[in-house]
Amino acid sequence: MIKRKAHVELITGLDLGSTSVRLAVAKQVFVPGEKTSFQIVGLIEVPSEGIHKGVITSIEETVSAVSHSLEKMEQLIGVPIEHAWVGISGLQIISQNSKGVVAVAKADGEITAEDLERAIEASRAVATPLNYEILHVIPRAFVVDGQTGIKDPVGMTGVRLEVDTQIIEGQTSHIKNITKAVYRTGIDIDDLVFSVLSVGDLVTTPRQRDLGAIVVNIGGATTSLIVYEEGDIIHTAVLPIGGEHVTNDLAIGLRTSIEVAERVKIECGECYPGHLNKKEMIDLKMFGAELNEEVSRKYIAEIINARMEEILEKIETELNKIGRSSLLPAGVVFTGGGAKIFGLVDLAKDKLRLPATLGYPLDILSASEKINDLSFTTAIGLVRWGASMQAGMGRGGNAGLKSVEKVSAQVKGWFKSLIP
Ligand SMILES: Nc1ncnc2c1ncn2[C@@H]1O[C@H](COP(=O)(O)OP(=O)(O)OP(=O)(O)O)[C@@H](O)[C@H]1O
Ligand SMILES: [Mg+2]
Repeated sequence: MIKRKAHVELITGLDLGSTSVRLAVAKQVFVPGEKTSFQIVGLIEVPSEGIHKGVITSIEETVSAVSHSLEKMEQLIGVPIEHAWVGISGLQIISQNSKGVVAVAKADGEITAEDLERAIEASRAVATPLNYEILHVIPRAFVVDGQTGIKDPVGMTGVRLEVDTQIIEGQTSHIKNITKAVYRTGIDIDDLVFSVLSVGDLVTTPRQRDLGAIVVNIGGATTSLIVYEEGDIIHTAVLPIGGEHVTNDLAIGLRTSIEVAERVKIECGECYPGHLNKKEMIDLKMFGAELNEEVSRKYIAEIINARMEEILEKIETELNKIGRSSLLPAGVVFTGGGAKIFGLVDLAKDKLRLPATLGYPLDILSASEKINDLSFTTAIGLVRWGASMQAGMGRGGNAGLKSVEKVSAQVKGWFKSLIP
């Protein structure tokens, strides 16, 4: 009997957050003739330094935080990490629509994967603003000889192939700083991924994305969102507001330190004050304050509520921009550490007039409890994204639908051009 050789690969996702640096490692086992298995084997978080709102504020500090997370991961899984899919986020990321048009190459007019590739490539020729680079080219729909709305034209017959794409771009300096910091830790970058793309795919089903849904990732300093309809991405945004603002408001409102405010928020905060009784009190000393001080839970909830409502209003403004306010049948899915605030789902149902749920990773195997910690969805999303890009079925990698070899060759070349 011929022995089937299993081939194991480690995939790593690195999330550079404002509050924490997180790493997720998955083991992918390929056994010829069997279904590939994918399992998260390590989740690590360390406090973040040198990163704010997705932007590197100190290379040195970022290098040290990332190195720290890599060391902890190596201790946990027993092997060193050599390369990672790195998330990129922040206000410096923009997106624009584009179109690519090509003539079908084969004489008999049958459309091939190469034609698709060329069309997607052609769409890259948009006017990128000065000092911006293309991160992703995401194909939406194809048009064959004027027939619109085609999802997969391979094998169809035609003369002219058009593709509508969404181009996501990041500021060159922003990209350079992230790549520099990661390279200095001694690992390679598989690719940079606009984080919210990978989170969105992780926490929603294809059916939800078909019906229409918004995924909102509430972080520490930022809230990022992505809107889907008919399976396509119709909007993305990064807003400069998050869980830290709630903590700051509490510190001011309760006249206490950030540390105490953070503990109060996490241990007894909620954002739906309606049901609370004014007489229900807590003592700040229980949360690390120096002196005894009684505060009503209702007052705390009111402070949190005001800021969470502001975040929801900003989300509503984004939905209004694209004419989808209260119109997404699969509703809003919240994820990120900031979404752990008690009562968010109820508040969102009221304010956004949409079904609301929390977004946990779907269809992911892991022995770790942390898999269902909403703070880890970005790191896990990056790993999943990496796995599907390597399998050649990812959505909008750096080079669209290209084969993995080509992509990695291209990516490497692209990164080299960035290294000073
Ligand atoms: N149980 C909890 N209840 C309420 N808020 C929480 C809870 N746990 C964490 N948070 C908040 O989540 C926020 C951090 O979220 P997350 O870890 O997703 O951010 P990040 O990825 O580091 O930052 P960013 O994405 O903005 O760069 C903090 O403001 C923290 O206070
Ligand atoms: Mg984050």
